[in-house]
Amino acid sequence: MKARVAILISGRGSNMAALIDAATAADFPAEIATVISNRADAAGLEKAAASGIKTKVIESKPFGKDRAGFEAVLQRALDEEKVELICLGGFMRLFTAEFVQRWYGKMLNIHPSLLPSFPGLDPHGQALRAGVKISGATVHFVIPETDAGPIVMQGAVAVADDDTAETLSQRILDIEHRIYPEALRLLASGRLRLEGDFCRIAGDTERGGTLISPRTI
Ligand code: GAR
Repeated sequence: MKARVAILISGRGSNMAALIDAATAADFPAEIATVISNRADAAGLEKAAASGIKTKVIESKPFGKDRAGFEAVLQRALDEEKVELICLGGFMRLFTAEFVQRWYGKMLNIHPSLLPSFPGLDPHGQALRAGVKISGATVHFVIPETDAGPIVMQGAVAVADDDTAETLSQRILDIEHRIYPEALRLLASGRLRLEGDFCRIAGDTERGGTLISPRTI
């Protein structure tokens, strides 16, 4: 049985599209049961519908600071679709500690930096202002703190002197689209185990390569 996944979005939905695409493979251990947006104008909604995925809008704005009220409606929608796992894909709304606790170990987020560096807004600008030579993307389990939680997978890219937030974000986005489906595959196939602040992976993994940046010539 494939794990039933909800993807929560607020905008473009390119990570959502990468997850939907990966889940079309017969051997992928998860199926995208629904895409839920907290904004009616999220461009990702059309993409999801075009892929034949059920979509739902639960506008968060009318709830204002009433996070629990919004989450009660969201939880009902998740229950209706028998959702077992949640992937946040650019979902720009903070959760209460109660909601996060309810989904602890079952809710992933992706952030375009090598966490714990540069959480929050404008991570690409933060990376450029810090002058790092390597940045990347992180998939992690969601905890009450924003852009924090046990790290599942990271991918790195070299940062060039002439990078702008736009050029860097595009290269990191390519990495995001590769690692998010892989992280979901690991979670849905039961290979991830949480040990306190750490996420451990069962079975074989490749050690991967080395990235040195800049490379001198
Ligand atoms: C992605 O780059 C994602 O990593 C980021 O929002 C973008 C959404 O793009 N998430 C965060 O910054 C979370 N703090 P998408 O809608 O095209 O997937």
